[in-house]
Formats: sequence, C-alpha cells, structure tokens
Amino acid sequence: LKYEPPMALARRYFNIYPEEREPLWKNPCAQRRHLEIWSEEKNCNSLPSFVVVGPQKTGTTALYWFLTMHPHVKSNHPSPTTFEEVQFFSGSNYFKGLDWYMSFFPTPENNTVIFEKSATYFDQQVVPKRLTMLLPSKHVVVVLIDPAKRAYSWYQHMRSHNDASASKYSFYETITAQPGKAPPALISLQRRCLDPGFYARHLENWLEYIQSQYIVIVDGDLLKSDPSSAMFNLQTDLGFTEIYQYDKILKFDKRKGFFCQLLPTGKTKCLGRGKGRQYPDMDQLSVKYLDTYYKESNTKLTELLRGINKPIPGWLSEKSVT
Ligand code: A3P
Repeated sequence: LKYEPPMALARRYFNIYPEEREPLWKNPCAQRRHLEIWSEEKNCNSLPSFVVVGPQKTGTTALYWFLTMHPHVKSNHPSPTTFEEVQFFSGSNYFKGLDWYMSFFPTPENNTVIFEKSATYFDQQVVPKRLTMLLPSKHVVVVLIDPAKRAYSWYQHMRSHNDASASKYSFYETITAQPGKAPPALISLQRRCLDPGFYARHLENWLEYIQSQYIVIVDGDLLKSDPSSAMFNLQTDLGFTEIYQYDKILKFDKRKGFFCQLLPTGKTKCLGRGKGRQYPDMDQLSVKYLDTYYKESNTKLTELLRGINKPIPGWLSEKSVT
C-alpha cells in the first residue's frame, strides 16, 4: 500500500475507474444504513412520485399547469434559472447534489402527490439511468405529438426569441440544411428541431432502465383538443385514488384557441403568449419532407407501443393508415 496526497490518489483512482468520475445519486431510502445517517427532516416522501419528462413543445407546460389545479397534487417550486423547470437529471445541476434537488419540493402532506416537470429529460441519453437510480418504481410521463409539428413548434419558438438562424432561414431551409455546408449554428438549430422527435429511439433508451408499466404516454393532440379526457386517462394511468373532474375547470377560449382555466368569475385564465403561439401552417414541402424523414421512426414507435401495451396516440395511428 502506497501513500499519495488526496488529489494524486483521486487521479490514480479515476484513471482506473473512469466510469465513476460522475456521481450517480442513489435512492437514500433503498438502504437502511443510508437512512440511519440521513437528517431526520428528510424523507423520501418529499421526492416526486412521478416526473413529466417532455419532450419540449408537446404541451408539457399545459399539462404541468393542469396538474397543479388538482387539489391533491403539488409540483416542484419553480427554479429561477431554468424557466421554472428544475432540470436536475439532464445537465450540470445534477452535480449540485440531492439536497439541492430536494430543496425544490414542498413538505409532503397526507394524500398529496408531488411531481416534477422538466421537458429536457425525455431525449437526453443520460437521464433514464440517473432518474431511475434516484426514483425507482416511479412513473415517468411522456407527451407525444406528431414529431413534425413538434419540430415546427420549436422552430417558431426560436424565431420568436430572435434566434439568428431561425430569423434568417425558413423552416424548410433549416430542416434540409446539409452538415458541413451549412453554418454550424443552423445545423445546431436543425438538430434541436429534429432530434427530440425520434421518439422510438428515446423510448428504447428509457426502457433499458424502467419497466414499461411505469411509462405513461399522453396523447398531446388529445391534451389540446379534449384536455379533460386526457387528464382523466392520465390520472387513471398514475393510479390516482381521487379522479379530479377537469371539465368543470377547463373551458375553451376562442381568442386563445386553446383550453384555459375557468375562474369563479366566469372569465378564463390562459397560458402566456409563449404557449399556443399564432403562426402560419407548415409549408407543404416541409410536411412532405418530414413525413418521409420520420416514417421509419414512427413505424418503430407504433410497434414499440404495441409491444408494451400502450395506447397508440390518434396522430400516430392515422400515420400508420396512410
Ligand atoms: P405552440 O406554441 O407551438 O402552439 P411546451 O409547453 O411543451 O413547450 O408546449 C407548448 C405547446 O403546448 C404549444 O405549442 C401548444 O400547441 C401546446 N398546448 C397544448 N395545450 C395548450 C393550452 N391549453 N394552452 C396553450 N398551449 C397549449
């Protein structure tokens, strides 16, 4: 046995075990020895019971908002730095540790369910492993819309934030830009439009770590057109004992073009301007291009969902027919 100063020892250790360079936070309640040294104020009930994982632009904010209207459901406190989402499992916040993550959650009350929503989780390769290690046997909720529409919504989102590439190039130019020829910023925008939409590939990554019974699929189109039904299905899938009737508190707002919260005054309160934007329909060239682009992935998704006994979202079964 040789002595080495701490840094040198650490370097030597991580050279031998490079896969251990990044921490992996495990569930403290899974081992008695960990529980015994944990502060008495902490317990695993203040970790989320389910997590809405995205992907972005599928209606995750509306879903989050509707869930917070449920009298027995509480969300994480908003994060001031990442557009209210905690984004713990997907980026560098993970290295801030478990206490940092837990500080976002309210003290649990009896029969209250706590959840978190970070739309960046779904398509980040590292998330399923990290999330299931800390929250084993918890549901993850995935909202799926036609990936072509998701791509277009992201493009419109970037345009409205004055992204230089989205302002300069049309949607069609963005999705068909050639790597190596087009400017790197345009290719980066293209990837953020297109990559999250390979739903089958991302779901397969989740299924490496989580049993299919813990994956809940929300049909994003149904969430838009008939949110009360979508919320009924979701509550059933999550095993809620008290099913909240959303048809009493959600009303279609003609001006917004979406369902909004019905206030006791009879007026409606809708999501802000950044959600449910008005923009022209997608051009036909892009529609055709993306139809082909996602064809194989969508076919795989249908097979995958069938294989794990999940309902096929309406938009996906329509695609399988054509
Ligand atoms: P658009 O703004 O492109 O229409 P996310 O919250 O995951 O970023 O998704 C944003 C999308 O949620 C919006 O995209 C909109 O289509 C959809 N959405 C679904 N229900 C909504 C609602 N009740 N109010 C506003 N947007 C809603």
